[in-house]
Amino acid sequence: MTLEQQGDTRLVAHPLAQQALTELRDVETDPVAFRRALTRLGRVCGYALAAAYFETEPVEVETPLATTTGERLTGDVVFVGVLRAAVPFVEGLVDTVPHARQGVLSASRDEAAGMDENGRFPISVNYVNLPEIRSADTVVVADPMLATGSTIVAALGAVLDGATPARTVVLSAVSAPEGIGHVADRYPEVELVTVGIDDHLDENGYIVPGLGDAGDRAFGTAE
Ligand code: URA
Repeated sequence: MTLEQQGDTRLVAHPLAQQALTELRDVETDPVAFRRALTRLGRVCGYALAAAYFETEPVEVETPLATTTGERLTGDVVFVGVLRAAVPFVEGLVDTVPHARQGVLSASRDEAAGMDENGRFPISVNYVNLPEIRSADTVVVADPMLATGSTIVAALGAVLDGATPARTVVLSAVSAPEGIGHVADRYPEVELVTVGIDDHLDENGYIVPGLGDAGDRAFGTAE
């Protein structure tokens, strides 16, 4: 399973990823189905990330009939979920790499302040709980929506504060061109992986066509 390069991002073009994204976009998808689709999408993305970035080493394995050589993932993987929409997404990622270390952080937009003239929001990072990030790590920072990029830039600031992992990947389900540009400018060394690149942001910083507020849809808090 490969990732297709599209400008500054790499696209998870797998049909199952695209199908899950279509379910997420559908306004008729209820919170239970939304969470399930987001978890499934995390799983497919985990497979794509493993194929593109993770190394394996040969290992001997004893079958009931003989000894043969198999493969095992090497290297250290850290998944960081941006609360709260990333919770089901990371659940799917962890299904694919159960030995990954995990971190969470909460970064939220100040919606009341609104978007500034550069298309950015003020962000509060209220809670950060990360494992030690080591030089051999591949760190995947997951947030389903890469909109203005303000949240993920704030999240990367917390994750990379004093840490230099081997690789950092930002994984999203849907990205807006504005957010891709923002992250690529601020963190050119960070790899961007996404499932859909949408058209634009509306005046409230929502991705169009997008899927609405991912947190509200996953947790059933939409009005
Ligand atoms: N956050 C969301 O959940 N949806 C958007 O479209 C933008 C930010």
